[in-house]
Amino acid sequence: MSSQSTTSRSFASDNFAGVHPAVMENLQLANLGHAIAYGGDGFTAEAEAQFERIFGVGTKAFFVFGGTGGNVFALSSLCGPGDAVLCSQWSHLHIDETGAPERAGIKLLAVPSVDAKVTPQDIERVSGDLGVMHHAQPRVVSLTQPTELGTLYTAAEIEQLCICAHEHGLLVHMDGARIANATAALGGISSVREFTVDAGVDVLTFGGTKNGLMYGEAVLYFPQGARRPQTYKDFSLENAQRALRYAPYARKQTTQLPSKMRFVSAQFAAVLNNDLWVQLGASANGAAASLFNAVHSIPTLELPHAPAVNSLYPTISPAHAEQLREVSFFWDWEPARHRVRWMTSWDTELIDVDAFAEAVYRVVT
Ligand SMILES: Cc1ncc(COP(=O)(O)O)c(C=O)c1O
Repeated sequence: MSSQSTTSRSFASDNFAGVHPAVMENLQLANLGHAIAYGGDGFTAEAEAQFERIFGVGTKAFFVFGGTGGNVFALSSLCGPGDAVLCSQWSHLHIDETGAPERAGIKLLAVPSVDAKVTPQDIERVSGDLGVMHHAQPRVVSLTQPTELGTLYTAAEIEQLCICAHEHGLLVHMDGARIANATAALGGISSVREFTVDAGVDVLTFGGTKNGLMYGEAVLYFPQGARRPQTYKDFSLENAQRALRYAPYARKQTTQLPSKMRFVSAQFAAVLNNDLWVQLGASANGAAASLFNAVHSIPTLELPHAPAVNSLYPTISPAHAEQLREVSFFWDWEPARHRVRWMTSWDTELIDVDAFAEAVYRVVT
């Protein structure tokens, strides 16, 4: 065993994890010889075909370097001058992207939310600004699935949000940085269309980095999915089609066009093949469930519910957190309430969970 022993697997973030061997293997293959740049290579064609298999014929995949870049590119293609994006106050877009959307000229309308979800009432409320020359124009609703608090929207909830958004002429973007975990939790590969394209989502940032890739995400457009009420207010279909036409230019302008694209798409080809990506998401979710089972009886942690995906948000005093961080680093999540986040990864093993749970007992009880 290398110096990267099992004890080095942390509970900080799925971003801390390494690269899946199948991804490494495909990177090695992609490195043989030359290939057409900017997406004209065979790996890109293969990954595009896999995305069409998963989400339906007509799906258009745009490979990018990272999650923030993917989100900003997606929103840039969806928004014009004066446009705004509705999102939750907990969203990565709002909290963790250093104002990148705003730098691209996109105003964020971050709404309060206890579970990090956006509601149809939020859409109704912000839509009151439509047509008011002095106010930014709500153009997009951005949902994170699963959310930054580890909660999930059901397919029915997403469909309701999409109907409401489209009725007001808004488009729907999904930040799927951890879509593998959501897919595994909501029923596996057969569920993913149901809560994305079939529910009416227009554009999806499909995460790879947190699920076994070295780097890279894909921004997916679903022109085939447009399920919309035919009302006189409905500009959304026209806007969705325009966004796809803009997408190649928006990707380049937002600096997310990889010239050696095969090194991103080969990674996706590896995890999309045989739906490995869903297995990896399920593995991370299973590890979080095991951690929950091991520690939830400690009352001070305040963990009433099993995790929906791959993260737990326990309460722990700063002194105990400091001690526990000597075993495994993790992030504060809501410092005012002493809430932290413990997150599992595609490669978290039971031995890691047991060792961490033991440390939790030692420190906290
Ligand atoms: C919900 C969410 N969206 C997007 C991202 C992408 O971020 P990055 O730009 O670091 O790849 C992350 C990463 O933590 C995330 O948690």
